[in-house]
Amino acid sequence: MQTATPRKIEHQQTDRGYVPVYATGVVEQPWSSYTRTDHEVWDTLFARQCEMLPGRACQEFLDGVAKFGLGDGGIPKFSDLNQVLGKATGWELVAVEGLLPDEVFFDHLAHRRFPVSWWIRKPEQLDYLSEPDLFHDLFGHVPLLLNPVFADYMQAYGRGGMKAHAIGPEALMNLTRLYWYTVEFGLIDTPEGLRIYGAGIVSSKGESIYSLDSDAPNRIGFDLERVMNTRYRIDTYQQTYFVIDSFEQLFEATTPDFTPIYARLRQSNAHAAADVQEATDRVFHYGSHEGFASMGDA
Ligand code: PHE
Ligand code: CO
Repeated sequence: MQTATPRKIEHQQTDRGYVPVYATGVVEQPWSSYTRTDHEVWDTLFARQCEMLPGRACQEFLDGVAKFGLGDGGIPKFSDLNQVLGKATGWELVAVEGLLPDEVFFDHLAHRRFPVSWWIRKPEQLDYLSEPDLFHDLFGHVPLLLNPVFADYMQAYGRGGMKAHAIGPEALMNLTRLYWYTVEFGLIDTPEGLRIYGAGIVSSKGESIYSLDSDAPNRIGFDLERVMNTRYRIDTYQQTYFVIDSFEQLFEATTPDFTPIYARLRQSNAHAAADVQEATDRVFHYGSHEGFASMGDA
């Protein structure tokens, strides 16, 4: 059987002309149409990450993986996971075709729904994929939704997204950087040392090693405005990781109204992804910057 592919609405008319986008609706996870190969890709990626993540990923993440039984064999059924998730924190997974427009994504989060791409990468894409698939969305993001504080942070982020969207594109960019440097690429300081909680890291073998072990990137203490004012890379491993002390710190730092912060940031230039602010940064590790490209920060 042919592996199903996500349904794209090519050439949708938008205010920027005709662009290819995904269908944005929620779909039923087509579980019975996954092929043997699809299930094997999940099993391979799962085994590979689970061998490496103890001692690297934070305990909350590892506990979530175990509680969901993500390694029971084959691609999990969202309906099974939702039984566990609903009881724990009231979140619900919904199946989608792929990346969503910002407002649609924020609306899901604000209602404690987490969108997960239903399709999984091909065997030749184990190490790199340019867009999120089921493995990234599910293995990377969903375990921490069992943590009550992180679960509340994600919902607050969704509400904040709707607000930023109404304020304007610069505000949205600042907020997107916060998501990038926390939800996707965050590190956390623990008594045992730095650990990973970001979904973009835990779902990548290469970056799970690089983010903690490499001399090249900076590791800098989390500071809300600093993070929201720092560009990032979408094409390489990160040049800077921001380190939180706890999920409570993250939640509390993001509780105040961002409106004055957005206004302030409009008056200042963003930092390049590799910059260190000597005077103000709490530096865990000065990156050697070896191998860094200088252009291309988003
Ligand atoms: N406090 C933010 C605001 O007023 C909302 C938010 C909360 C954003 C948590 C991100 C994360 O816009
Ligand atoms: Co992600």
